[in-house]
Formats: sequence, structure tokens, C-alpha cells
Amino acid sequence: MLSAQTMAIVKSTVPLLEDAGTVITEHFYARMFRANPELKDIFNMSNQQSGRQQFALFSAIAAYAKNIENPAVLKTAVERIAHKHTSLNVQAHHYDIVGHHLIETLRELAPAAFTAEVEAAWTEAYAFLAAIFIGREGELYRQSEQGVGGWRGVRRFTVIKKKVESALVTSFVLAPSDGGAVLRYQPGQYLSVRVKPAGADYWEIRQYSLSDRANGEYYRISVKRENGAVQGAVSNHLHDAVQQGDEIEVLPPAGDFFLQSLNRPTVLISAGVGLTPMVSMLEAIVHANTGAPVAFLHACENAQQHSFAGRIAALQQAYAPLRSFTWYSALDDLPSPTHFHGLMEIAPLAAQLPLADGNFYLCGPTGFMKFAKDQLLALGVDAARIHYEVFGPHSDL
Ligand SMILES: Cc1cc2nc3c(=O)[nH]c(=O)nc-3n(C[C@H](O)[C@H](O)[C@H](O)COP(=O)(O)OP(=O)(O)OC[C@H]3O[C@@H](n4cnc5c(N)ncnc54)[C@H](O)[C@@H]3O)c2cc1C
Ligand code: HEM
Repeated sequence: MLSAQTMAIVKSTVPLLEDAGTVITEHFYARMFRANPELKDIFNMSNQQSGRQQFALFSAIAAYAKNIENPAVLKTAVERIAHKHTSLNVQAHHYDIVGHHLIETLRELAPAAFTAEVEAAWTEAYAFLAAIFIGREGELYRQSEQGVGGWRGVRRFTVIKKKVESALVTSFVLAPSDGGAVLRYQPGQYLSVRVKPAGADYWEIRQYSLSDRANGEYYRISVKRENGAVQGAVSNHLHDAVQQGDEIEVLPPAGDFFLQSLNRPTVLISAGVGLTPMVSMLEAIVHANTGAPVAFLHACENAQQHSFAGRIAALQQAYAPLRSFTWYSALDDLPSPTHFHGLMEIAPLAAQLPLADGNFYLCGPTGFMKFAKDQLLALGVDAARIHYEVFGPHSDL
């Protein structure tokens, strides 16, 4: 337990972190990567270049410092971050490195405010927070290692099938090269792949949601080719350079976003490649055949970009309680009365959705998820029954 004095000092110096903005984050990461370049094998270097991730660590530490008297309020965030860290194989000794560069950054950027007393308080508080993460991550690593088909760290998998699902998305079916079983997972969870694309100096790790139900023998991920301002490093490598028969490295499944119940009414809401965890959840529900009602709401640009359309239609044939609704944002032929043009408007379907007692799952761009969540809240859905996954650095909706 931290002393009252430590808590008071840490709390009063939170503005040191908050006010410095990008100056402090850039200084911290530059310092850390200079001294410990091996960490470039763990961090997403595209995020570093675009600055997308840099705030996450600091805002999490600031949130902890503000709530230092009652860290239990951060339980959900700790769980999410611990899963993300295990998917990256973050180890206990890495916390010493991060802690060291955090303290040195504060010393270098705020020498006047960073007295010996402040340093001692922050050192103690950081160690306390690190211990919470190390403890939870240790449990997750043990669970992954001890489960049937489980393992720890990277394991080599062979691409046994590569299948085009739509104009931008291709699936990869991955079986362990050692011929063993694979760990089961909760529908909605993701795994990480570790690759070294041509020309890259370091390993790159990315998370991909498992897009099929667990079967104990192989995994399937479905990857969108990212062609934004800059070509996505790993997705383009997977699409172009990784062929059937090739090997890639895989870290065990992780993630705190998963189907809460096979028996409850369920609404799966996605846009674009955000449908991958939804397909896994749907496959699991249909396989369990509980009779629970499921609605599958999906938005994408047009029929060419509509992944798994045939599979969802087949599942509808197999499972009568499944309703599927699709929105195409670009003008395109609408093949059925449950296809619509434009943005996903949920209110017109309200009578067909379990607003009062269903579990709602969202995945897609954050703007889309916020749009959908606001509609659900306006329709009276309890926020506690709305779950979501961000395909990148997490942000609150
Ligand atoms: C939990 C989770 C689950 C996920 N599941 C899936 C899934 O099922 N399917 C899927 O396809 N993806 C999924 N993702 C996303 C995936 O992990 C990758 O982020 C995605 O494939 C892009 O990786 P990349 O290496 O191709 O792109 P990166 O190289 O990481 O680039 C990402 C984006 O940033 C842009 N960019 C890169 N460098 C710069 C720069 N210097 N300046 C400006 N912009 C830049 C790129 O154009 C690109 O759009 C998931 C992510 C998470 C966190
Ligand atoms: C107490 C210390 C730490 C805190 C508070 C913290 C916090 C966070 C947060 C909030 C995220 C974003 C999670 C998300 O998007 O869902 C994150 C991601 C990440 N963390 Fe940590 N973290 C800590 C320690 C570490 C350590 C020791 C390492 C390893 C060196 C590490 C490596 C990463 C990596 C690689 C990511 C993914 C982001 C990317 O690759 O750009 N973190 N962390």
C-alpha cells in the first residue's frame, strides 16, 4: 500500500505529465528507443511515426495517478491493457526499462518540479502500478501456456490456406508447424502475428481478430489491405509476400472483448473489416444452436467490399433465429429488402432488436462505433450491455 504522502505528491504532480503534451511523449520514446533499440521489435513503429500510440501510455499513467487512492476504478482499463501487453509478449523486466525512462524524462523536462521527494513518490507509485500489470500478465501467460494446445511467446505456424474474402480482405488459415493442437479462445479475441516485412529493420507485431469459431486445430484471421497515406507495413506484407505453405510467427490468443453468453439475445454490429470478431461470435452461436436470437448488422462500401456475405447467408439458412441487415455506403444494387443504402440507421429496426435484454457488440472505425453507440443509447440500451473493440490504439467512445 502506498503512503498517504506518496499518494498526495503523485496526485499533485499529474500536471507534469498532462501539460507537457507531445514534448514529453516524444522525448520519452526517443530516449527509450535510443537506449533500448530492442524494444522496436515490440512497439508498432508505424504508430510511432504517425504519433498515434504515443499518448496511450502517458494518459494511462496520468489516469492511474489521478485515481491513486482507488486504483480499482481502473480495473477494466488494466484488463484491456494487460491483454494487449501479453499479445505483444511484454515481460516483467520491460517495466524497469519503461519506469527508468519515465523518471529520467520527468527529471530532464521538469528539473525544478522534480525534487528528490517527487522522484521517490513517482518511483514508488510506478512500481506499484507495474506490479499490478506484471501480476495480471503473469496469470494470462500461465493460462495460455497451460491450456490444451497452449504455448508461451512466439510459435511457428504454417499458412495452410489463403482465401480472398472480398476486394480488400483475405483470410489466412494458420496451423502450427509442429503439428500440435492449438489453444481454444473466446469468440471475439485476437492473436498477434510477428513478421519482418522486406526492408524492415525490426520485427513488427500486429493483432488480428480470430474470424472463425475455436476448433482446437487451426486459426483463421482475415486481414484488410491497408492503403492509407502510407501502405500498411504488415497487412500488405501478408497480402503480397506470405503465400500458402509459408510460415509466420504467432502469439497466443488474447483480448477482453468476447461473447459474454451463447444463450442471451445478441446483436453484432460492424463496419468494414470490423466484422471479423462478429463472424467468430456468430459461428460460435450457430454451432451451439441454443436458439437465442441474433441480429447481424453490417456496413461496408459496396458488394465488392462485402466480406463473408455468402457465409452469413448460409448461416441464416442453418439458424432461423438469425436476422442479417446490410448497409452499402456507395450506391450499388441492393440484392434484398434487408440491404439498405447509406449510413447504418438502427432506429427503423428497433422492433426487431432485443433492446431491453440483449448484449450488443460493436467493431469498426471509432467514428462508426460512436455513431452506432449513440443510437443504441438513444434507443434505451444500457451502456453496460454495449461492448466494443478498437482495431488500433484504444480510445473511449
Ligand atoms: C484488437 C485488434 C484486432 C484487430 N483485428 C483486425 C482484423 O481482424 N483484421 C484486420 O485487417 N485488422 C485488424 N486489426 C488491425 C491490425 O492490427 C493492423 O493495425 C492493420 O492490419 C494495419 O497494420 P499495417 O502494419 O498494415 O499498417 P501500419 O503500418 O501499422 O499502418 C497503419 C495505418 O497508419 C498509416 N500510416 C503508416 N505509417 C504512417 C505515417 N508515417 N504517417 C501517416 N500514416 C501512416 C497507414 O497508411 C495505415 O493506414 C486489429 C487490431 C487490433 C488492435
Ligand atoms: C505501467 C506501465 C505501462 C502502462 C500504464 C502502459 C499502458 C499502455 C496502454 C494504455 C496501451 C494502449 C492499449 C490499447 O490500445 O488497448 C499500451 C500499449 C502498449 N504497450 Fe504499454 N504500458 C505500460 C508498460 C509497458 C511496457 C513495460 C511495455 C514494453 C516495453 C509496453 C509496451 C506496449 C506496447 C508495445 C503497446 C502497443 C502499442 C504499440 O505498439 O504502439 N507497455 N500500454
